[in-house]
Amino acid sequence: MSKGTDRDFIPALRFHWLTSFYDPILRWTMRESTFKNKLVRQIQVGPGQRVLDLGCGTGTLTLLLKQAYPKAEVTGLDIDPKVLRAAEKKAENMGIDIMFHQGMSFELPYPDHSFDRVVTSLMFHHLTFENKLRTLNEAFRILKPQGELHIADWGKAQNWLMRIAFLSIQILDGFKTTSDNVNGLIPQVIDKAGFVETKETDRFMTLYGTLSLYKAKKIK
Ligand SMILES: C[S@@+](CC[C@H](N)C(=O)[O-])C[C@H]1O[C@@H](n2cnc3c(N)ncnc32)[C@H](O)[C@@H]1O
Repeated sequence: MSKGTDRDFIPALRFHWLTSFYDPILRWTMRESTFKNKLVRQIQVGPGQRVLDLGCGTGTLTLLLKQAYPKAEVTGLDIDPKVLRAAEKKAENMGIDIMFHQGMSFELPYPDHSFDRVVTSLMFHHLTFENKLRTLNEAFRILKPQGELHIADWGKAQNWLMRIAFLSIQILDGFKTTSDNVNGLIPQVIDKAGFVETKETDRFMTLYGTLSLYKAKKIK
């Protein structure tokens, strides 16, 4: 990550040279299919509805969404061209039609009220508090009234073991962006952006700490 501009981002595994290890690490050490399938079931997308996977990375969740809801229009967005290439290749190999766009989560290239669902997995702990809020403001803007936000990310540690385990993520991705997560602040930032009915719907113990699922709604 270079320093000092608004265009900076933390890559999937912090360093670009680690990106090709991302999929196997997630698959084998993070209970990835358990929590991503749970998130997919939680989202409940109707035919013709539009879903945005924010910070889609290598597209695993984006593909699961399209497989589960083939009549929905699924789009993945990420700032990193390297992961987007991997995501496009995976979709092509599986013969699945998904649009992938490059963009920043806090400057979304979409009009107001253009999506029914915004989902994001493991991206929020890459953002500063300010950029978490800017991203949620953008998610709120592009969602239609009655649209929903669904997040999977590191949450408040369930016990001291999970708190210690989470130090591994903090050392990798930095304390500045990850502390809001482990301090349990994600629901507060979601509310601050105008969402309602915010709740933590599930939590999982992983090798690296507690992973939480959240859900919230935009009324109008
Ligand atoms: C840990 S990966 C998660 C990828 C995928 N969502 C998953 O669950 O496996 C975080 C992703 O967020 C992306 N990212 C980080 N900051 C971003 C931002 N401000 N806007 C868009 N993407 C961002 C990174 O490029 C990376 O692909």
